[in-house]
Amino acid sequence: MCGGTARLLTALLVTAAMGYPSRRSATDLDATPRMTVTFDELSGVRRFSGRSLNYTTLLLEDERGMLYVGARGAVFALNASNVADGSHRTIHWEASPEKQLDCLQKGKNNKTECFNHVRFLQRLNTTHLYACGTYAFHPLCASIDADRFTLPSRFEEGKEKCPYDPSRGYTGLIVDGGLYTATRYEFRSLPDIRRNLHQRPLKTEESPLHWLNDAEFVASMLVQESKDSLVGDDDKIYYFFMERAGEETTSFFDKSQVARVARVARVCKSDLGGKKILQRKWTSFMKARLVCYIPYYEVLRSVCSLDSGGWASTVFYAAFTLSAQW
Ligand SMILES: *[C@@H]1O[C@H](CO)[C@@H](O)[C@H](O)[C@H]1NC(C)=O
Ligand SMILES: *[C@@H]1O[C@H](CO)[C@@H](O)[C@H](O)[C@H]1NC(C)=O
Ligand SMILES: *[C@@H]1O[C@H](CO)[C@@H](O)[C@H](O)[C@H]1NC(C)=O
Ligand SMILES: *[C@@H]1O[C@H](CO)[C@@H](O)[C@H](O)[C@H]1NC(C)=O
Repeated sequence: MCGGTARLLTALLVTAAMGYPSRRSATDLDATPRMTVTFDELSGVRRFSGRSLNYTTLLLEDERGMLYVGARGAVFALNASNVADGSHRTIHWEASPEKQLDCLQKGKNNKTECFNHVRFLQRLNTTHLYACGTYAFHPLCASIDADRFTLPSRFEEGKEKCPYDPSRGYTGLIVDGGLYTATRYEFRSLPDIRRNLHQRPLKTEESPLHWLNDAEFVASMLVQESKDSLVGDDDKIYYFFMERAGEETTSFFDKSQVARVARVARVCKSDLGGKKILQRKWTSFMKARLVCYIPYYEVLRSVCSLDSGGWASTVFYAAFTLSAQW
């Protein structure tokens, strides 16, 4: 399942380049669409719509035939082969009136922000899903029994795991029980990539020039390099985001604006943090610029990966749009 927004103009193969990228010409790359859908074919598309807004979080479980959807104040379980067959189940999960009032008093928007936007939805183990919501600027998380599909009676604090602001760029994965999330959590905090629910919780360093510079996260992906590996290579988690470019480039459109560029970063799953320096920080963090080979398509909107067997043949597909000035 490709996460991300629906406002995709074009899906393109991307090339990652360290430092100053050189654009490859279109003829170097095979940009033939893998699938083309005509407008007429779209009339047969099945639609699901509950009473909620903001269906932003999707979890597709192919092998179980389920599509779970996190929305504003609700989580839905849909039949993946036909989301409109009427068999859907719903968990209502609204922010409490007290927390909504609290949110209003903080001056937040009572039409969009002071609700529980479910932003995280992943499989925790064979029986349970794990979900986090913004809960009217007071994030909460819960383990949900996937068969019974009801809210538990106990919730967990979500402030280290889920952003407060529902419109903030955010991505998260559960890998071997560890929770890997990336966002700007609180209003004043700097964005970071974290690992929680793990014996060794880790973060990125608060050093904008070298690590993350005002990053807005788009997606994250696990690449299982350890699978079938003779040398026991470590699994990697890749992060895709937009961030402030630093001095390396100015905006093509408006020289007065600080340019933002697309990036990919990666960390190793077995990273334990440093011993003397980088304690409780990633020691395997690396990042590179991502450049769409069509000029001016610079805003990264969505990424998905296609793993056809071994990790070495994993292909990332990214969707870029023109920047807002166009
Ligand atoms: C989902 O839909 C398919 C096709 O309509 C059907 O065969 C299947 O039984 C449904 N699954 C569930 C869990 O309802
Ligand atoms: C939201 O706030 C506005 C302005 O304070 C107020 O007029 C409106 O009644 C509020 N709406 C709800 C649903 O609380
Ligand atoms: C899955 O996790 C939930 C919540 O932590 C726990 O209650 C449940 O026993 C776990 N299930 C299995 C099969 O480990
Ligand atoms: C939720 O949906 C409403 C209505 O479509 C939109 O105005 C708002 O920006 C959305 N909020 C988020 C956080 O996506």
